[in-house]
Parts: sequence; structure tokens; C-alpha cells
Amino acid sequence: MYKFKKLFQPIKIGTMELKNRIAFGEQAPQASHGYITQATEDFYVERAQGGCGLVMVGGICPDISGWGTESMARIDDDKYIPLLARMGKRMREVAPDVKIGIQIMHEGRAMRPDEAGAAKNLKPVAPSPVKFKFGVVPHELTVAEIKHLENQFVAAAVRVKNAGYDCVEIHGAHGYLIGSFMSPYTNRRTDEYGGSIENCARFACEIIRGIKEKCGKDFPLLIKVNALDRLDKKEAPVQLTPDIITAIAPYLEKAGVDEIHLSGGTHEAPMWSAVGPYYVPKAAFAGYAAQVKSSVKIPVGVINRINDPVLADELIIEGKVDLVWMMRPLVADPELPKKAEEGRLDEIRTCIACNTCHDILCQGWFHETRCAVNPDAWREGVSHLEPSLRKKNVLIVGGGPAGMEAARISALIGHNITLWEKDNKLGGLLNLAAIPPLKGEIMSIPRYYTSQFKKLGVKVELNKEATPALVKQLKPDVIIIASGSSTFFPPIPGIDKSLVVDARKVLEGSAKVGNNVVVIGGGEVGIETAEFLGTQGKKVTLVEILPTIGELMVRDVIDYVIDQLVQHKVEILTGTKVEEITGDGIVVSNKDQQKRVIKTDNVIIATGAKPDKTVQNALQGLAREVYLAGDCLVPSNIRVAVHQGNMTARMLY
Ligand SMILES: Cc1cc2nc3c(=O)[nH]c(=O)nc-3n(C[C@H](O)[C@H](O)[C@H](O)COP(=O)(O)O)c2cc1C
Repeated sequence: MYKFKKLFQPIKIGTMELKNRIAFGEQAPQASHGYITQATEDFYVERAQGGCGLVMVGGICPDISGWGTESMARIDDDKYIPLLARMGKRMREVAPDVKIGIQIMHEGRAMRPDEAGAAKNLKPVAPSPVKFKFGVVPHELTVAEIKHLENQFVAAAVRVKNAGYDCVEIHGAHGYLIGSFMSPYTNRRTDEYGGSIENCARFACEIIRGIKEKCGKDFPLLIKVNALDRLDKKEAPVQLTPDIITAIAPYLEKAGVDEIHLSGGTHEAPMWSAVGPYYVPKAAFAGYAAQVKSSVKIPVGVINRINDPVLADELIIEGKVDLVWMMRPLVADPELPKKAEEGRLDEIRTCIACNTCHDILCQGWFHETRCAVNPDAWREGVSHLEPSLRKKNVLIVGGGPAGMEAARISALIGHNITLWEKDNKLGGLLNLAAIPPLKGEIMSIPRYYTSQFKKLGVKVELNKEATPALVKQLKPDVIIIASGSSTFFPPIPGIDKSLVVDARKVLEGSAKVGNNVVVIGGGEVGIETAEFLGTQGKKVTLVEILPTIGELMVRDVIDYVIDQLVQHKVEILTGTKVEEITGDGIVVSNKDQQKRVIKTDNVIIATGAKPDKTVQNALQGLAREVYLAGDCLVPSNIRVAVHQGNMTARMLY
């Protein structure tokens, strides 16, 4: 068993002592008209009792000019204090030894006034009128306006203190207002707020000094900054670098800040968003944090893709950072700190960095944020389970994500659970989803469920087909069928030819294909199959009938996979219909009805999935209650499958 050396040691940030070195933060709270919602309160209370040392409530807006969307929380008026205070009080009640804080965040030029959910009639503001790639040219702040905004940050910090929190943070990362002053890409000013390092740090420093003056020197103040912007060098030849932030850090320290933690990337950065998807290396900013740490004496932390407590411990042992920040990993499993400290590492539900959580938020809808692996996230207040008063024998058919989650929840309610999986391992389609490059972490999902099944006494039987005879022997009260889906083969002439192969078989390795292949279907499976084959040096053509590929994929991921396809020279044909599959290729037509013949060794079908009704038809009527969950009901993604498994099992009270 791994023995933690540093992670669970206390650390001091200014006058505040954290019980350990795991900080949760920062997740923009969901709000209604600026007021945090009940769901936000329940979400943070759950995080507080999970065992981390500090809970930093995510970005709350100090001024109307930075109110990115109507569902962003505000703190520019005392009327917002009571709800924030109540949330803090509840956090303290459940976890008296956890420290709590609020991050103040002004979106600056990154506001997108035309997006759905955006606050109306607001003009983004910034140090300089540099157009935001996905928005507009912001208003260049005058010095008087800068001073006004500094005062707004200070007033917001005073409200944080008055609401009873232990500390306050200012958001200086990700290209938002404070960060945009630090980056030479967005700060082109020639007055005292631009040019030199000292001038670029001035806005942050004046806010820090103002907060210290009004809240008191002993009220801890933290800042999140970018190590680098990661913008396209052609579009932004001059931008924020680790050297610049290392030079800025001592000014922040001198102004009075008590901790700095490093992030990176902005909304304009290609691929590597500030919320690193699965393809971003873990702890990618830790080296830069170490560089910044060498220039200051205050504690330095790091965030992004640190989903493993052992890695977190190692970063501190190596002296790269003093503490570690985790956001998505504690959304996926708020109890990660507790489980790690108690040596229950295999029980941690690991964040797979699929960025489902970020996707909907980026479209302006804070209230629709969801976690693919933790269906209870943001539903904490309504997800409580009571023990069932009628213990039932439940048979779950299928050990994919829906079946596993259904088994976990029904066991938690108190039923007797048997899970039959026809394969020799749990996971279902997760076993295939984990095969494309860099997606191996998906296998942490079946690992987590395996640990839960042991703990909850779920009887798992592998290599077991659910035949009517076997089910009759078992006599379950309830059957939850989660038997999955099969590939949908569209009615294209020639689809039955021998060169046609199911994409699933290609990924699992049971079908070998030639060196020149066509993949039909530009959804997630088709794209990842093309990428997978491209990495093997095969010549791949990807054909999609819609005008774009990856239509339903997470936006942070699609840019990356398209880049991978380009790198592997995959030819992408969109708006292209497959008219016919011949003995040695396909005939396609484009939107102008022009036909083209593509010679190929194999045609790989990735045109979606259809529910597998075989088990359902065979087992109908063999138990008092029969339910369907996951792909055998509606083929979809991991999130939908896990959520359906969860909701279905909740029917069994
Ligand atoms: C849904 C969502 C909301 C976020 N809101 C904020 C925020 O309000 N303030 C902030 O500094 N970062 C915010 N972030 C970024 C995270 O704090 C963090 O920097 C990022 O997710 C990478 O860290 P992680 O791998 O630990 O999640 C948000 C990220 C997500 C996914």
C-alpha cells in the first residue's frame, strides 16, 4: 500500500492552516439572477465533507461588467451575502476542520455577448482592445475605470469576509480580466498598467494591496495565475510565458498575496484548454509551478489533470509545489482525499477528463453541467438514498457502465444483487472506448465498480449469458437489462460484402484490416477508429454524410482529434454520401451529386448503434419488474449510460 509522505501534512497559507495539501477549486457556482442556487450549496457541502483541506468556491463576479452569463454568481452587492453565508455555515457544520474561501472572477474580454445564456447588453472590458477570438473587440479600460474595478474586487473580498469565509482568492488565470493585464498578448497599454513586468502586475497588485488594507493583513488571499497562455504562436507571437509569470510572482508576493497556484491556457488556446481534456499530460503545469516557486517564499500550488493522489504526493515530495489543487477529480469523487488518506485508493472514482462537465458550461449553461462518471454531482441535495423496506433479489444483465451503476445503486439501497456479464470482464463498451490513443484511463471506471462490488457484496458472474432457463432458476424479483447495443449497419447496397467490417471488431482486434481503409461515419467511434488506424500508419479515408464530423462530441476534444486525424493524414470527406460498396471500394457522391470511386481494402462501419433487443425479448415476463438501462434502451455515451443506470436502480425502493 502506498504510504503518503506529504499530501496529508498540514500547510500554512498566511495565518490559515490547512489540515492537508489538497485544495478543491474552483468550480463556477450555478446561480439564478446572481444568487447561488440550492444545487450549488449542496454541491459545495458535499465537497467540504470529502476530506480536502480547503474548499474554494469558484468564480463569483465582483462587477456587472464581468458578468459572463446570466447563470454566473455575483458578489457586487451585499444582498448576495446571506446565501453565501448560509453555504459557508453548512460547510462548517459538516466539516469544522475544512477551510473555506471564495474566488472572485471577472470575465473581462472572454465574455461572449452573443452566446446563448449571456447577460444582455454588456460590452466586455479589457486592458486593450484586442478582439476575443470567439467574441468581440472589448472596450479599452480608462485608468479611472481600472481604479473603479479594483475597488469592486476589494469590496467583493470584504463581502467574502463578511459572509464568514476563511480566505479569498482572485482569479488571475485563463485570460480573464486580471490575467489579461499580465499577458503581453492582451495588454498593449503604454501607461502605468502596461509594458514592463511591474506595470503588467500592477492591476493585480493594487487589488491585492486594497484587499489586505480593507480585510486586514491576516485575512488570507490567494491568486490563481497562468503559467502560459498556450495561444497559437502565429496568431499571438507575443504572449504570457513561464518566464513572465515567474518575474511577476515576486510583485504579487510583495503586494501581500499569501499563495499562488498555477494553471494555464485560455479559451483562445487551441486544444489545450485551461480544463485539460484526457490528452493533456497529467500535472502538465507542475514544472512551471516549480519555476515560480523558486522566485517566491509563499506556498505555490498547481492545478490541472492531477486526478491521482499518489501523483499529488509525489509533486510535493519532489519539491515542485507545496499543495495541489483538484477540481474535476473531486467532482468525480468528493471523497478522494478521505479514501486516499485511509488507503482505499482502488475505491476512488477517477476523473477521466472527458470534459463533459466543461462542455455545457462553455455554452453558457452553468445549470446543465454534469459529470460522466458521477451522476450525483450537482444533484447532491436530491441524490440521497434511503434503505429499501422491501429487500429484493435483483438480477442485472450486462456489466457495462449502465449495468454497473445500476448494480451499485441497488446494492446501496439494500437489495441482493447478482450481475451477469457475458464477456470475461466487466466494462462492456468501455473496454473498446479505452483502446484509442490516450483513452486508457476509461478503464478506471470498471476498476472503481469492482472495488464497490466487493464492498457491497454484489455477486458478479462473468462469462454468463442470461438465458431464460438460467433466469428461471435464479427467480429474481427484478431484472435490469443493460445488455448494450450493436453497430447499426445502414442499408447501403453492398453492405454485406466481405470487405465490410464492424468498427467495434477493428478496435477490439478481432478483425484485421488492410493498409488502405475507409471508415464510414464521422461520429466519436468513426473518428477514434480512424485515429487508431492512422497511428498504425494505415491510409485512412473518413466519410461522413453531415457537413461536419464529431457533431455531438465534447468541443474541447474534437479540436484535438481532428488535429490527430490531420497529423495521420486521414482524408476527411464531409457532406459525402456512400452510394454503394463494391468488391474493392466504395462509390460516394457529394452535395453536387458528383460521384467518386474510392478503392479500399476494407470498409469499416461506424454509423452509430442500435439497441440490442435480444436479451429483452428473451427475458420479458421472467420477473415481476423488468427495466432497461443504457444502450439497450437508447444508445449514447458514458454519461448517459451511467446516469440511466443510476436512475433505473432508484426505481427499486
Ligand atoms: C465546469 C467547470 C467550471 C469551472 N469554473 C472555474 C472557475 O469559476 N474559476 C476557475 O478559476 N476555474 C474554473 N474552472 C477550471 C478549474 O478550476 C480547473 O482549473 C480545471 O478544471 C483544471 O483542473 P482539474 O483537472 O483539477 O479539473 C472550471 C472548470 C470546469 C470544468
